[in-house]
Amino acid sequence: MNKAIIGLQWGDEGKGKIVDYLSENYDLVVRYQGGNNAGHTVIVDDLTYKLNLIPSGAIRGKVCFLGQGVVLDPDHFVTELKSFKEKIPNPTIYLSSNISLILDYHKKLDKINESILEGNSKIGTTAKGIGPAYQDKVGRKSIKLSDLSSTDILDSKLNNIKSFYDPILVKYNEQPIDLDEYKKFLSEKYKDLQDLIIDNNFINNTYENKKILFEGAQGAMLDLDYGSYPFVTSSNTISSYIPIGSAINKSYETLGIFKAYATRVGNGPFPSELSNEIGDYMAEKGFEYGTVTKRKRRCGWLDLVALKYSCVANNTKELCITKVDVLNDLEEIRICKSYNGKLYDQINFASSNILENIDLDDSDFKKFKKWGDLTPMKDYKSAPDALRNFIDYIENYLDIPITIISFGPDRNETILK
Ligand code: GDP
Ligand code: IMO
Ligand code: MG
Repeated sequence: MNKAIIGLQWGDEGKGKIVDYLSENYDLVVRYQGGNNAGHTVIVDDLTYKLNLIPSGAIRGKVCFLGQGVVLDPDHFVTELKSFKEKIPNPTIYLSSNISLILDYHKKLDKINESILEGNSKIGTTAKGIGPAYQDKVGRKSIKLSDLSSTDILDSKLNNIKSFYDPILVKYNEQPIDLDEYKKFLSEKYKDLQDLIIDNNFINNTYENKKILFEGAQGAMLDLDYGSYPFVTSSNTISSYIPIGSAINKSYETLGIFKAYATRVGNGPFPSELSNEIGDYMAEKGFEYGTVTKRKRRCGWLDLVALKYSCVANNTKELCITKVDVLNDLEEIRICKSYNGKLYDQINFASSNILENIDLDDSDFKKFKKWGDLTPMKDYKSAPDALRNFIDYIENYLDIPITIISFGPDRNETILK
């Protein structure tokens, strides 16, 4: 069965690590949304891979495909690929010709958008141009990879883009679009990328009967429609976007990934956030610093109310819990089980206003005992009782089995349950 690996929280759940771990048994690994706002760290035998656009299956030499739902910054992709090849010399990475490009003006617009917003209304984006690039896609202005081979199409699209955006760029003290510069840049990038660009039919024909792993980016709680709008990313991150974003119409089952606690980068509601020394402890022990922007991630207790919502939204069939080792030393570990007594189907998660006003009290938490060092854990049977109680409680609450437990960043620090 094809599998979708989806982050169930606010991103950085360890998707990269688990895609690498599981990809051994798959033929093709596919990204279907997002861009280089994603940052996935994978550690294999003391070698660290930091990936933004390259699917983590490429580390095992699996064929990878970036589908039409991805937004691609060509400059970034070429640089990332070059540095990846220093470790893995001959990756096979195909790019759908329908992919929309992120260009320099998108990054400028991203910064302008943020600069106009005041105080707490700032989104805290990664400034990679993601929102403006998706705006252009919906607004039918995007330059697609398939356009790079036609100077006529490029000329016409760039003229349109210039007329539309120059007044905004100039108003906010940015340089207007230099058509010659953009044309030169795009023709250079076309030379770098042309051998990787393929038609969606090629993937569908070649991988007709093969096993496919879909790699989500961001997390379900950052989904444009399901997340706490407007503090979301600009793509649909949940699994039902897969057939659209990949153009692969095959059935798949969702494996949802979540951390043993919760983190969020950027602004937006986070009911179980810990603005205290326990939150700081999680950030330090879990090394919760963004791969893309280096920002310290906000940390809090595992939130089962949000997780249940996310599991339902993704039709999740099995679960992977990561970073249980980070909580090792805490004398008391908590899980948020309700929002002032309310459960997931009584909360509107797509409204940031409603979530901002939730103030949890003691009765909203279930408490667990310390489980201590996990290094001797070779299989689930040898897991400490306190950890098993924690995992049993989550499985019962969500009514979904946890099949993978990750207790360290390395590929080997993973057990099947
Ligand atoms: P992704 O965006 O979902 O792929 O996650 P990131 O790579 O941005 O963030 C997860 C971080 O936690 C990375 O630095 C991983 O190396 C690390 N990591 C993954 N699983 C574990 C784990 O079980 N324990 C610990 N301590 N670190 C982990
Ligand atoms: P991975 O794949 C965590 C967050 C940003 C910001 C919001 C909108 O590593 O899990 P954007 O630049 O997308 O317009 O920013 O989304 N964000 C992420 N947070 N992990 C990510 O990706 C993220 N990608 C975007 O911090 O709050
Ligand atoms: Mg990440």
